[in-house]
Amino acid sequence: MTTTAQNVSTQDTTAKTRTPAGTLYADAARDHLWGHFTRHSVFESPADGGLGQQIPIITRGDGWKIWDDQGNEYIDGLAGLFVVQVGHGREELAQAAAKQSRELAFFPLWSYAHPRAIELAERLAGHAPGDLNRVFFTSGGGESVETAWKLAKQYFKLTGKPTKHKVISRSVAYHGTPQGALSITGIPDAKAMFEPLVPGTHKVPNTNLYRAPEHLREDEKAFGRWAADRIAEAIEFEGPDTVAAVFLEPVQNSGGCFPPPAGYFERVREICDEYDVLLVSDEVICAFGRIGSMFACDDFGYVPDMITCAKGITSGYAPMGAMIASDRLFEPFRHGTTAFTHGFTFGGHPVAAAVAMTNLDIFERERLGDRVKENAPAFRATLEKLLDLPLVGDVRGAGYFYGIELVKDKTTRETFNEAESERLLRGFLSKALFAAGIYCRADDRGDPVIQLAPPLIMGQAEFDDIESRLRGVLTEAENYL
Ligand SMILES: Cc1ncc(COP(=O)(O)O)c(C=O)c1O
Repeated sequence: MTTTAQNVSTQDTTAKTRTPAGTLYADAARDHLWGHFTRHSVFESPADGGLGQQIPIITRGDGWKIWDDQGNEYIDGLAGLFVVQVGHGREELAQAAAKQSRELAFFPLWSYAHPRAIELAERLAGHAPGDLNRVFFTSGGGESVETAWKLAKQYFKLTGKPTKHKVISRSVAYHGTPQGALSITGIPDAKAMFEPLVPGTHKVPNTNLYRAPEHLREDEKAFGRWAADRIAEAIEFEGPDTVAAVFLEPVQNSGGCFPPPAGYFERVREICDEYDVLLVSDEVICAFGRIGSMFACDDFGYVPDMITCAKGITSGYAPMGAMIASDRLFEPFRHGTTAFTHGFTFGGHPVAAAVAMTNLDIFERERLGDRVKENAPAFRATLEKLLDLPLVGDVRGAGYFYGIELVKDKTTRETFNEAESERLLRGFLSKALFAAGIYCRADDRGDPVIQLAPPLIMGQAEFDDIESRLRGVLTEAENYL
């Protein structure tokens, strides 16, 4: 049985884990580690104006379970960060990394190649739809997004449309933190501190059906058409000669899992073809079985011009990303002195590529994609039971990827104001969920949501366990409000 997590004082002498320098991990983390998207005041001592909490330190994983340094066990409801598709603790992946490190630990793809990158490129091209046959490796999702935008710009410069450089993307969508990717990102709060960002990005409405204009809420198809047409409108407004690409996730993560309404991508593809604008499917989260197929564009029946991916490509056993482009986009680079003057030292790292190959072996052997497709309706139905709680307004998503939107008033769909959301999410939910033995995400980059994206190996028993823990915490949250 999972023991519940406690906040252990950093002075607690029962804490067993220490750094090689003899410091308690929690103290060394507080004093030296800079967390990503982390409010450090939470971990500072009250004497320094902080809350004196201990940063959770995760030391071990096995399957869908993780443990902290105090020995407490949790369900990994987020696969780390939408990453660990095959689950934690796979010896086979550790072995693949060790073997490759012995054989060739590193070599770049700068005018050279190595077997693992070649094998992986061939394999990914085999899985990608249409003529997306060319793989450019990176070390993560943000780099993949940067790569796709730069390729779009250079492609149009090489093919006689040099003024096409702008990008359309959707409100509240997250596409990464490098300055180009951040410019494409549609979360103003994540961008404000870094303005001015790369110019030439424009936002259109996302596909949040729950928050759709009222006259479209009951007609998904009409909403999809409306949302897609906003892209055409933006292209017209910016000038078709200036727009290079549209970046869309198959299911938008930020805001809480917005699946595409029926017909949406069909219409987007039409629009992109009409205006000669490249469609980039940002599958950093959605690829590698998260929705069911190897690439999620297949789940929704469209063929993009580029796919950006990362995370699940190695199930997180090594860092890696990729941008996969169509033959058409590679064509100008096959001739003369032309090169895509872009690269990353660690892009296509041999150890990461070897891990990715073995990760894909596991996908095939265990039919993980089929498993997701078979289990997704049951996962959804289990989470939908939570709709009987007054706080739960909507359950949405696809595959093994769901968002549960929390509302103040179910009838009117009224959401929480900033202070309430702060109190609910940071003041209560994040800690209470973890204390209840479930690691998942309470997010308010859009309206407040709880997000779930567990390892793809989970089944009904784990869905039930997740539902029951969420139910307990959300019921308690009502008293707290
Ligand atoms: C859709 C999407 N694109 C890009 C990124 C950035 O990926 P990374 O954090 O690997 O740079 C993310 C990260 O979550 C993402 O969800």
